[in-house]
Amino acid sequence: MNALPKFADLPHGYSVTHDTSDALLDQLIELSGSAEMIAAVPKDASERFVDRASFLQGTQQKQRSYYWLIKDDELAGIMWFHPKDPPVPLLPDTMSHTMSLRIYPKHQGRGLATPFMQIAHRDYFLQHPEATGIWVITDQSNERARHIYTKFGYQPLAVIDNRMVLLLGRLA
Ligand SMILES: CC(C)(COP(=O)(O)OP(=O)(O)OC[C@H]1O[C@@H](n2cnc3c(N)ncnc32)[C@H](O)[C@@H]1OP(=O)(O)O)[C@@H](O)C(=O)NCCC(=O)NCCS
Repeated sequence: MNALPKFADLPHGYSVTHDTSDALLDQLIELSGSAEMIAAVPKDASERFVDRASFLQGTQQKQRSYYWLIKDDELAGIMWFHPKDPPVPLLPDTMSHTMSLRIYPKHQGRGLATPFMQIAHRDYFLQHPEATGIWVITDQSNERARHIYTKFGYQPLAVIDNRMVLLLGRLA
């Protein structure tokens, strides 16, 4: 398994990069503030990606690692991972990391989520051999997200306050 090249290609002119730039960051801040994204993931606009400072602070404090989905210099989606225990107990000696995914409205419904996850998960597991698994949390009502996560191999682990926790073991 090779590390992610500077740009990994997806169909229809999309590519994935691990490198953060000011241009991508400014688009992330703007897109996070759209009404649709605020409805789905309000903390992006109110905490995580309010401005460059909040992005940098969260990145450093939480050791977040980002993957950017782009097309013609336009930000189409983002995924990030960082070490964090899930809100439910796991077996001893497990080291779990968490993942978050966004595909922005203009680019949704094009089947990008799965190939984007494949590229980013493979690279992240490669860069983080200590990670025994990756977990996600999503509103139980978010059927689209639950569908793509379980299709990818995430297994439902628990439901807490109407939010579902799903866990993925290391990829083969
Ligand atoms: C969730 C999200 C990442 C999915 O990306 P997307 O571009 O819309 O999804 P894709 O086109 O790649 O794939 C959608 C899949 O879900 C299915 N789907 C769509 N709506 C669905 C629904 N209401 N119920 C079940 N499945 C649904 C599609 O049929 C497709 O399935 P397939 O891959 O088996 O053909 C994106 O919509 C998003 O970022 N939403 C806002 C933020 C969010 O909810 N993030 C995740 C939760 S934290």
